[in-house]
Amino acid sequence: MSETPPLHRRSRSLRAVAGDVLRRARPFLLDLVRKGRTQGFRAAASYLLSRVTELTENLVYEYRTVGGNPSLPEGWTVQTFHGEGDPDIDRLVRAGGGEEMHHFRRQAVAYVLSIDGEPVAHGWRYPWDPVARWLGPDAVYLGSAWVRPEWRGRGINGAFFAYVTGHMPAGTRVVMLVAVENRASQASLAKSPARCLGLLRVRMVLAMVWKIRLLPVPPGVLAGPRASRAREPGERGPGV
Ligand SMILES: CC(C)(COP(=O)(O)OP(=O)(O)OC[C@H]1O[C@@H](n2cnc3c(N)ncnc32)[C@H](O)[C@@H]1OP(=O)(O)O)[C@@H](O)C(=O)NCCC(=O)NCCS
Repeated sequence: MSETPPLHRRSRSLRAVAGDVLRRARPFLLDLVRKGRTQGFRAAASYLLSRVTELTENLVYEYRTVGGNPSLPEGWTVQTFHGEGDPDIDRLVRAGGGEEMHHFRRQAVAYVLSIDGEPVAHGWRYPWDPVARWLGPDAVYLGSAWVRPEWRGRGINGAFFAYVTGHMPAGTRVVMLVAVENRASQASLAKSPARCLGLLRVRMVLAMVWKIRLLPVPPGVLAGPRASRAREPGERGPGV
């Protein structure tokens, strides 16, 4: 039978926990006090609020997949990764995903696109995401697409997107969030069949979704495809 610890021992451990919390919060509390002294109560209050809650605004795109299992241009291959332990994981790193392994903890799947064996781009698919879930319980969230800088602007992201979504069951609802200032990503999606639903404003409180609103896109925000382009999709990039 387990014995209940004496009260003084329990309160000592509670004190230790409180001390630990205070020690961790000390730099933040010092900053808060300094801000209040130098910039006034309002500045300190908004600083406090910014640490407890977070407001993000992103364009949200949606696409219903049509299936068809499209093929890739010759020499292009796509590989999927389900965890850091994959023997080929260095290919995800070479495709720019080295800092993003934490996505695997969300059961995300990484895709790597290689051209003639060279990893040039990667992207992630999240089976569950609180924001995507709000947009529809069946939604699949694609995000963090990244193309190596020397390969950008030649349709790689568009072709990669078409391939990945074309291999999902027809009718899958895919959603993506794009930063308002990310003109390249918007231009790439403008050439895809995905459509922009609006501006998604998300209020997070203590890292949890608190409030979500879908607003109309403010005029002049959305970047369209450019009038001319240097190369066609599938054309080779520079020698690497
Ligand atoms: C966004 C990104 C993935 C696009 O990849 P990509 O292979 O270059 O995409 P595409 O070639 O399919 O389309 C890019 C389009 O953006 C255009 N573009 C590039 N930079 C631009 C800019 N600053 N402003 C407007 N358009 C821009 C290109 O000209 C091209 O359009 P065009 O073919 O009509 O000329 C790539 O730029 C990237 O990796 N960016 C950094 C990471 C990122 O922002 N990821 C998106 C997260 S949602």
